[in-house]
Amino acid sequence: MLMKTRSVFVCQECGHRSLKWLGKCPSCGGWGTFVEEPELNQDSSSPQTKAYEPVPLAESVPSSVERLRSGISEFDRVMGGGIVPGSVTVIGGDPGVGKSTLMLQLCARFAEKKPLYVTGEESLEQLRYRAKRLEIESQGIFGLTEQTIEHITATIEQYTPGLVVIDSIQTLYSSELESLPGSIGQVRYCADQLVRLAKRTGVPIVLVGHVTKEGMLAGPKVLEHMVDVVIQFEGEGNYAYRILRAIKNRYGSTNEIGIFEMGTKGLVEVRNPSALFLTTRTRPETGVAVAATIEGSRALLVEIQALVVSSGYGMSQRVATGFDTKRLQMLLAVLERHLGLDFLHCDVFLNVAGGFRIDDPGADLAVCAALVSSLQNRPVMDRTVAIGEVSLTGELRQVAGMEQRLKEASKLGFETIVMPPGGSQWSAQGELVVHSVSHLGEAIALLVQ
Ligand SMILES: Nc1ncnc2c1ncn2[C@@H]1O[C@H](COP(=O)(O)OP(=O)(O)O)[C@@H](O)[C@H]1O
Ligand SMILES: [Mg+2]
Repeated sequence: MLMKTRSVFVCQECGHRSLKWLGKCPSCGGWGTFVEEPELNQDSSSPQTKAYEPVPLAESVPSSVERLRSGISEFDRVMGGGIVPGSVTVIGGDPGVGKSTLMLQLCARFAEKKPLYVTGEESLEQLRYRAKRLEIESQGIFGLTEQTIEHITATIEQYTPGLVVIDSIQTLYSSELESLPGSIGQVRYCADQLVRLAKRTGVPIVLVGHVTKEGMLAGPKVLEHMVDVVIQFEGEGNYAYRILRAIKNRYGSTNEIGIFEMGTKGLVEVRNPSALFLTTRTRPETGVAVAATIEGSRALLVEIQALVVSSGYGMSQRVATGFDTKRLQMLLAVLERHLGLDFLHCDVFLNVAGGFRIDDPGADLAVCAALVSSLQNRPVMDRTVAIGEVSLTGELRQVAGMEQRLKEASKLGFETIVMPPGGSQWSAQGELVVHSVSHLGEAIALLVQ
């Protein structure tokens, strides 16, 4: 535990220190830059400080990290295989997305390790009620309603639980600081205490964090730097599915996602996510194409919908949901230049079904097919997946993960693939008919009938 005499306010821009909070920094002129911090004992900076002996890295090679697997595979995968002992994870997300639900379900998976659920937002009654509603066996899970960091760290040291959940970091405060719970200084100080404790004791800690309107983890960006893993739990308005996404992971990859569905019994893993993003159609419709994208180590089939309508005399609009608007404009320009199509006096709307967001250039061809299909009011070839990046020259380019994309298409009963050349080794996936074409024009001629 740090020894403190009092707290000071420090400008986050230039480091200017003040005994009271100032709206404007007299040194750098920044507004609202002062954050409360505990003042350390002067001794710690004494010139007599004893030197430590550095340790050779070669002698301290740890045996492979043992991870705590929850058995919730969508969660474990996003975490890089499980929770690493002594790690601190932040899970952020909008209110109501299901953070507390997921955390309670997680504790239930570690019931034999005496998990501790610290809640500063709800009563133990509410926790018990949730456990009952989710039909969670709460035997073995311990609860604590507490907000002061000193009490929480003391409790963790004494009871050494196998996992600690803090719901939420914004409710914690230290009496050492005068600022309110949730302020930057408090969040940073409390998180720092918990990080030190986790490293010292090896107890893994998961912090629930709220997301501010700006989409940042409240209690500043600095929280993201302090912890080992940052995951984001996202939901899209009226849809029941939730996506768990790794933003930072010191122990694994950050491009994995986990998909859950929120039901009355809590969050259920979605084993076949492609089914979520494809609508069941009985006959081909215009303006709809199917793309195969890669998310982390998995392929996902998603439906791309386009609507191209005359904009009359007004300014034409380009609106994309779930897709980058700039990329949409680029693809429209390629279609105009290389295929001689005219979108000039048209409003163009593009939507990725199910509220999904695509950042994968492999979806370019499907986007182009949906756009042309809507423009010309002709449907895209039925039961077909379009894969490929479109270059500015109108060429189709290979994208990574072709094998997974084809496997997923085959698994879901698609019959035809239109893709760039160079993937003949993957062509033999199930019953798929594969058309390899090198130019966007040829691909569109095949796809839009
Ligand atoms: N009594 C209930 N019956 C069914 N679903 C509920 C009930 N209470 C909450 N939920 C569901 O759980 C969600 C809240 O989950 P919660 O884990 O508390 O979110 P967070 O902690 O992220 O704010 C709600 O959006 C709702 O869908
Ligand atoms: Mg909650």
